[in-house]
Amino acid sequence: MIRAENVTKIFGSDPESAIPLLEENKTKEEIRELTGQTVGVNKASFDIQQGEVFAIMGLSGCGKSTLIRCINRIIDPTAGHIFFKHPDRGEVDITQLDEEALRTLRKQNMSMVFQHFALLPHRTVLSNVGYGMEIQGRGRRKRQEAAQRVLDMVGLGPWGRSYPSELSGGMQQRVGLARGLATDAEVLLMDEPFSALDPLIKVDMQQELTRIQRELHRTILFITHDLDEAMRIGDHIAIMEDGKIVQIGSPEQILVNPRTEYVAKFVEHADPTGVITAGTIALPLDSDKFVSAGERDGISYLHRQDLPHVRYGMDREGRLHDVQMDEQDVPVRRLEEVLEDESARPASSERTGLALTCGEDAVLRDILRSRLYSTLPVAVTNGDGRVRGLIDDPELINGILEKRGEIP
Ligand SMILES: Nc1ncnc2c1ncn2[C@@H]1O[C@H](COP(=O)(O)OP(=O)(O)OP(=O)(O)O)[C@@H](O)[C@H]1O
Ligand SMILES: [Mg+2]
Repeated sequence: MIRAENVTKIFGSDPESAIPLLEENKTKEEIRELTGQTVGVNKASFDIQQGEVFAIMGLSGCGKSTLIRCINRIIDPTAGHIFFKHPDRGEVDITQLDEEALRTLRKQNMSMVFQHFALLPHRTVLSNVGYGMEIQGRGRRKRQEAAQRVLDMVGLGPWGRSYPSELSGGMQQRVGLARGLATDAEVLLMDEPFSALDPLIKVDMQQELTRIQRELHRTILFITHDLDEAMRIGDHIAIMEDGKIVQIGSPEQILVNPRTEYVAKFVEHADPTGVITAGTIALPLDSDKFVSAGERDGISYLHRQDLPHVRYGMDREGRLHDVQMDEQDVPVRRLEEVLEDESARPASSERTGLALTCGEDAVLRDILRSRLYSTLPVAVTNGDGRVRGLIDDPELINGILEKRGEIP
């Protein structure tokens, strides 16, 4: 949907003088000393897919706001290109658009949500939410219907006739979010929209946005300086340092495999439980820690070296057939299913009476919760139902502490 190619912004009286120094990989500090110019963004390149939340994260001053403003040309980049897949005109290079085309682009295709939403004080909440659509030239009826729908989504359905001053800060923030979501712009640019909120409301808003996004599938560029926030809502995360993007990846890739010291520092304090997946931490089936336990009726059995009395039977395709403990069949259920069924929670002493399976994308938090239902290892299966590995306590602990695969 958006492709940035070497987007660069130098602030100062002679931006061009800094460009060759960037090519020599001089740092932001060195360039300031040599030329007096400030590097805002240094050759940033990335792809944002249609329907994803792309989060940009980094410390204060690293260039996040400058970069997002280059995308809709509130700031003109010094160098580089930004391609946008326009719904009617195919790929357009935003850096080549004239003023008129830019105004249309901002009105129709890219709406921007700021940290301070600046609601219009003399308009009702409903009319504030509809404001973006008004600029787009939508009719009054359509505007009000759409505005009400989004207001319902953010949990402010009954507040449409109130004025912003009658709402708390957190509620105003929701109105701002609703205003951004209400237009049918393909791209939503959000610059730290939640950073002024207190922590509990902030988490609420993150969940709200993820929930709404599951319905609307907007393409969102989301700026934050909070890695946990980036990981909660981002499908991909780009990490910025001194104007440069130093790593791009899924939240799990960033957490498991930080590529620089700077990224590692952020990751150290991040919460892995919603990010690390079963596929990453499972003891893989081809590990030499599995021992064959014979074959019966075309079903081959194996067990973990450290747990000989629990056997897993697999058919020829590698799909889980049965689980046995002390040679007795144990019922097998899906993790997702039991987690939804509080009443299925057995007494502590009976947690060995059930075996669970989960998909490769189940998150650590859910596998930890599974311990309330079963103490047997969780069998991790792929889309075809083939067993990929097992997760027992060592893998879980490793997942929390080390954030990656097999314990050495
Ligand atoms: N208009 C400007 N003129 C000169 N320098 C600027 C201007 N805007 C930003 N800068 C510089 O560019 C760099 C990046 O600033 P930017 O505002 O993009 O950072 P940020 O990552 O958004 O920080 P924050 O998290 O504090 O919002 C900083 O060194 C800043 O001093
Ligand atoms: Mg900023």
